[in-house]
Amino acid sequence: MSYKSMILSAFVYTALTVKADIPRYAQKIDPRSFAVLDNVPTGTQFNGTSHFIPPGTTSDSLKAKPFHVYDDAFYDIIGSDPTLTLLAHTETDPIFHEAVVWHPETNSVYFAQNAGPVAAGTGLNKSAIVQKIYLDEADKIVAQGNGSCFVNVTTVNSGQQVINPNGGTNFRGKIVFTGEGQGDNIAPAMYLVDPNNNDNTTVILNNFFGRQYDSLNDVAVNPRNHELYFTDGPFGWVQNFRPNPVLPTQVYRFNYDTGVVRAVADGFHMTNGVTFSPDGMYAYVTDTGLSSGFWGYNYTNPSTIYRYDVNDDGNFSNRQLFAYNEIRVPDGIHCDKQGNVYVGNGDGINIYKPDGLLIGRIYLGTTSANFAFTGKGKMVVCAETKLWYVNWNAEGADITSREYTG
Ligand SMILES: *[C@@H]1O[C@H](CO)[C@@H](O)[C@H](O)[C@H]1NC(C)=O
Ligand SMILES: *[C@@H]1O[C@H](CO)[C@@H](O)[C@H](O)[C@H]1NC(C)=O
Ligand SMILES: *[C@@H]1O[C@H](CO)[C@@H](O)[C@H](O)[C@H]1NC(C)=O
Ligand SMILES: *[C@@H]1O[C@H](CO)[C@@H](O)[C@H](O)[C@H]1NC(C)=O
Ligand SMILES: *[C@@H]1O[C@H](CO)[C@@H](O)[C@H](O)[C@H]1NC(C)=O
Ligand SMILES: *[C@@H]1O[C@H](CO)[C@@H](O)[C@H](O)[C@H]1NC(C)=O
Ligand SMILES: *[C@@H]1O[C@H](CO)[C@@H](O)[C@H](O)[C@H]1NC(C)=O
Repeated sequence: MSYKSMILSAFVYTALTVKADIPRYAQKIDPRSFAVLDNVPTGTQFNGTSHFIPPGTTSDSLKAKPFHVYDDAFYDIIGSDPTLTLLAHTETDPIFHEAVVWHPETNSVYFAQNAGPVAAGTGLNKSAIVQKIYLDEADKIVAQGNGSCFVNVTTVNSGQQVINPNGGTNFRGKIVFTGEGQGDNIAPAMYLVDPNNNDNTTVILNNFFGRQYDSLNDVAVNPRNHELYFTDGPFGWVQNFRPNPVLPTQVYRFNYDTGVVRAVADGFHMTNGVTFSPDGMYAYVTDTGLSSGFWGYNYTNPSTIYRYDVNDDGNFSNRQLFAYNEIRVPDGIHCDKQGNVYVGNGDGINIYKPDGLLIGRIYLGTTSANFAFTGKGKMVVCAETKLWYVNWNAEGADITSREYTG
């Protein structure tokens, strides 16, 4: 070893062992700081819908530095200077809700309005809308650095409308949306939208051997067999825009080429988000049974992320409880390139290591139902009346490699 390389390795060693300063928008939250509380409130005062403010913090201090480090592994994900930028907002209409999908070719991000709430003005007679933004505008706003300006939000006027979209994913250069259906007569369906062709829209599935699904919720592509896996549950029913369910709450797989649909998992209260690990060996499914829409909450129901082994033939086995979510429910779920698991919940986004340890959060103080990785170091986050942009280190699992073209 030369003298020069000795100095270099000493330098590298120092850089790796001396912990860098905590980034300006990050703060450490030590689980030991709340293992014992002076006063532990009753369930009527504090429950699965309540926002936990750890001792020594306030709601404002949690928001001022929104990247919360629960374990040092989170520093690699946030990098040296993570930022959170507001891209757009509304007064009350929850247009930034779900089905967040990045379309790399047009560098646009699609998302859907919340179909249930009164403020959305949707209900039985009107479908929620799909809208999109262009990330070039978002990058311009971040470069300006003063948050004084917002992106343009455009309604996607597809010839055939996606009725009550709730989930979405990239598929063969296009986007697949799951629609929850509307009233008795518009069956839940899966739609294929082509961003390169004026968002032209085609229905690709709308029944199970003649039966209506309950409310299609989310969809993801298994990177090993390229089939579409989707969740179905009684969401429209508990929000008064769909009739009584006629199928159990299940996860299904759909082979677009052969048309074959098969159920792969059941035993849920409300199966919600679905995603795969980058290597396709695991599937993650969220169960949001704690929240029953207009019917209220049942705190003993799951608010849980389950992990399955995905077998060579595409079936699921070995259901494991991966994580129980601490605030409201875990909804949209996605993995990064390293297999870390990100999930939207009642006060932002939780980030778990592949072994299920909570390592950090993006704290918004409000619900985030879903989000999308939008290229290296970027993420767009929907939070009902707000649309956020995260700039940091993380990169999503490669979605374009899943766009098998047959
Ligand atoms: C749950 O906690 C909230 C406070 O966060 C309280 O307002 C609500 O009444 C509680 N719910 C029940 C059913 O006790
Ligand atoms: C839907 O429209 C029908 C008639 O067009 C009306 O009677 C009904 O009240 C409307 N329902 C809602 C929830 O707006
Ligand atoms: C934001 O930054 C841009 C460019 O740096 C500048 O032109 C603009 O005036 C700033 N706006 C505010 C409100 O500071
Ligand atoms: C929004 O669109 C208008 C009209 O095309 C354009 O002038 C403006 O720069 C856009 N906003 C951003 C943030 O790029
Ligand atoms: C648009 O989609 C419809 C099916 O919904 C299809 O019949 C039509 O050919 C498509 N249009 C174009 C221009 O691709
Ligand atoms: C909550 O869920 C449990 C388990 O499904 C059920 O036994 C209980 O009756 C439910 N409680 C309410 C208030 O709905
Ligand atoms: C699921 O797949 C595994 C491995 O591919 C296989 O051994 C098992 O028999 C399959 N289960 C069913 C029900 O076909």
